[in-house]
Amino acid sequence: MQPTRISITVNGKARTVNAYPDEALLWALRDRLGLTGTKFGCGVGICGACSVLINGRRRTSCTVSVSSLRARDEITTIEGLAEDGRLTKLQQAFIDNNGFACGFCTAGMIITATDLLRRRPTPSRKQIIKSMDDNICRCGCYQNIIESIEAASTRRRTAS
Ligand code: FES
Repeated sequence: MQPTRISITVNGKARTVNAYPDEALLWALRDRLGLTGTKFGCGVGICGACSVLINGRRRTSCTVSVSSLRARDEITTIEGLAEDGRLTKLQQAFIDNNGFACGFCTAGMIITATDLLRRRPTPSRKQIIKSMDDNICRCGCYQNIIESIEAASTRRRTAS
């Protein structure tokens, strides 16, 4: 099977990639578009390192074939979260609360938490833990990750 031209929308821009139809979105992002913030961990949808937003909902990009996407589907990677060069409150909260150690899982964590906070702006700790259940941190920074998400949530409450 030969690669074919596939149109997708990534971080608000129309992009065309030459990809194999069964190629995972993860590899189209990383190898064909150079968006290496999205990480490969397990390749089977378990670790969450490859999380992206598709039409605003978190998906594991290793389990989505690029050819299954429509050109109008909005894919957002970690590179697409900041606006006008400014980190989101959640990204800043991860920095302020040491929400990472080696950083490998961080993009996936932030993407998943972004989905959570958009759907549920002031989640309980229990809701945060449940929502982040499919993202693995091999350094074991879970406490700081949860506190980062809580801090972003609290800031939103304070700001509103
Ligand atoms: Fe996709 Fe682990 S690399 S979930």
